[in-house]
Amino acid sequence: MESGIHKIPVASPQLTEADISMVSECLRSGWVSGTSPYVEEFERKFAEFCGCKYGVATNSGTSALHLALATLKVGLRNEVIIPTFTMIATANAVTYTNAKPIIVDSESQTWNIDPALISKKVTQRTRVIMPIDTYGHPADMDSIMEIAGKQGLRVVEDAAEAHGGEYKSRRTGSLGDIGCFSFYANKIITTGEGGMLVTNDEELAVRAKWLRAHAFGRGGRHFYHEELGFGYRMSGVQAALGLSQLERIEINVRARRRNARLYNEHLGKLGGEVILPPEANWAKNAYWMYSVLLKNRRRRNELMEWLAKRGIETRTFFYPIHRQPFYKAGYRQLRFPVADMLSRTGVNLPSGNGLSEEEIGTVCDEIRSYFHNN
Ligand SMILES: Cc1ncc(COP(=O)(O)O)c(C=O)c1O
Repeated sequence: MESGIHKIPVASPQLTEADISMVSECLRSGWVSGTSPYVEEFERKFAEFCGCKYGVATNSGTSALHLALATLKVGLRNEVIIPTFTMIATANAVTYTNAKPIIVDSESQTWNIDPALISKKVTQRTRVIMPIDTYGHPADMDSIMEIAGKQGLRVVEDAAEAHGGEYKSRRTGSLGDIGCFSFYANKIITTGEGGMLVTNDEELAVRAKWLRAHAFGRGGRHFYHEELGFGYRMSGVQAALGLSQLERIEINVRARRRNARLYNEHLGKLGGEVILPPEANWAKNAYWMYSVLLKNRRRRNELMEWLAKRGIETRTFFYPIHRQPFYKAGYRQLRFPVADMLSRTGVNLPSGNGLSEEEIGTVCDEIRSYFHNN
């Protein structure tokens, strides 16, 4: 099959012979369901990579987020604080629980939720703060945990994009009460579709596992259900791929960071035409995406078109939640200047694990020629 019209894609999965062997081994074993030992091993090893005691694998990053909130008993008349600058799944996971997403602007230094704006949004109904580690850069978790501690709230870290990132030398996903990851095909490691919730809290892990598979009855009453559970299991086949991919996770994070270093070297010479991605002095950005800002929307759109014509795929940033047709009516009076600026001017450049130095050179040459000609 054709892999698409773009010669240099934003990100495509790297699938190796080792991956194929591990998946074949799983298929031959017959352990393909969600109760497979491959799932347990993947949970144990990925949680360990994150610096957490427990992992609960799911069939997507979105279901991991929803499961995390359900595990924390978030429901009707509750509120969950999230950044408006996020992928839609963060808000949707809240909506699935019947709680309300309360949105907050980003800080311009890291593009993540601005901790200084969170306290004003806390009400009697708030249960959880759910920051995201945007494009691989960790949120300012100490500040967020401090607010949560003072207000008696729980924290779910949406680390869907940040495998292997670090906050003050601690891995992303391990910093809140629960961390959630996605293993969608364009992520730093992939299971095709898939996700995982990680935690150090045994009670939360046990409850999440129970809710993940329909909250089956205990004590011999298997088909008797006391709570609303979900069909969110990851299959053994996906976990086998995950286990094999996990062997290369450090290599992949190094590749993403090398991509960023090379891009920064090239694009840093463009005299401020391109604003480079953030990396706070307390952060290790996993650079899931190499993302830059242009001076305005027109420049951003023109550059994307210029690159597309030359076989280079790019992506705009997210539309913030307050601009989404499904959500915007609830937030009409509010202003989110940083999120709007990011959404207007941001572009993700090719960022995959397998991107070569030559390809990065080509992308940067074309960016340079755009500025030379416009
Ligand atoms: C921040 C964030 N949260 C959640 C998700 C949802 O993950 P999935 O696509 O695996 O459901 C994504 C997906 O990319 C994401 O970027």
